[in-house]
Amino acid sequence: MADSSIVLTELHRKSTSWAKVVDEIVRIEKKIFPKHESLARSFDDELKKKNSGLIYLEINGDLAGYVMYSCPSSLCAIITKLAVKENYRRQGHGDTLLKAAIEKCRSKRIHRISLHVDPLRTPAMHLYKKLGFQIDTLVKAYYSSDRDAYRMYLDFDKE
Ligand SMILES: CC(C)(COP(=O)(O)OP(=O)(O)OC[C@H]1O[C@@H](n2cnc3c(N)ncnc32)[C@H](O)[C@@H]1OP(=O)(O)O)[C@@H](O)C(=O)NCCC(=O)NCCS
Repeated sequence: MADSSIVLTELHRKSTSWAKVVDEIVRIEKKIFPKHESLARSFDDELKKKNSGLIYLEINGDLAGYVMYSCPSSLCAIITKLAVKENYRRQGHGDTLLKAAIEKCRSKRIHRISLHVDPLRTPAMHLYKKLGFQIDTLVKAYYSSDRDAYRMYLDFDKE
């Protein structure tokens, strides 16, 4: 089998690929996430916010996954989205994307990264724990009246 080409890219506002990448991500969002958890309708706006960033991964030119983060203050960052298309899962791409976002935040001298995750999302929970995130608290009805979230965090100064 031919080697596949895997490319990791940070999406910049002035990138000529902006519209194409955002369109593709919106398509993926709609497939993977329920409406109340999806950023499909607001992705473009979210990304244009000053402190947001997005790293995406392409395999042989196909957008296979992405991670989105924001840095609302100089001390903390938030992972706002992480997803890998179903046919590319369990091949280490989620790990690669999350590590890339963590490194990006570390380079900005952020002290803490936090995120919210539905406790029932087992693959995501395992991945976050594997990369050192700890559970902070359970937030009842975070996503909807019957869906809670764990708030998790990773502190750099405690590593
Ligand atoms: C979570 C997600 C991004 C993982 O992507 P992935 O490319 O399949 O993950 P990787 O192959 O890099 O796996 C990395 C680690 O994740 C965990 N993991 C991934 N899939 C798993 C599964 N099906 N069951 C248990 N753990 C799993 C493991 O800890 C794995 O490490 P290991 O291979 O050493 O066991 C992917 O499953 C996804 O997009 N899920 C739907 C969207 C989602 O839940 N996003 C998070 C919202 S907060």
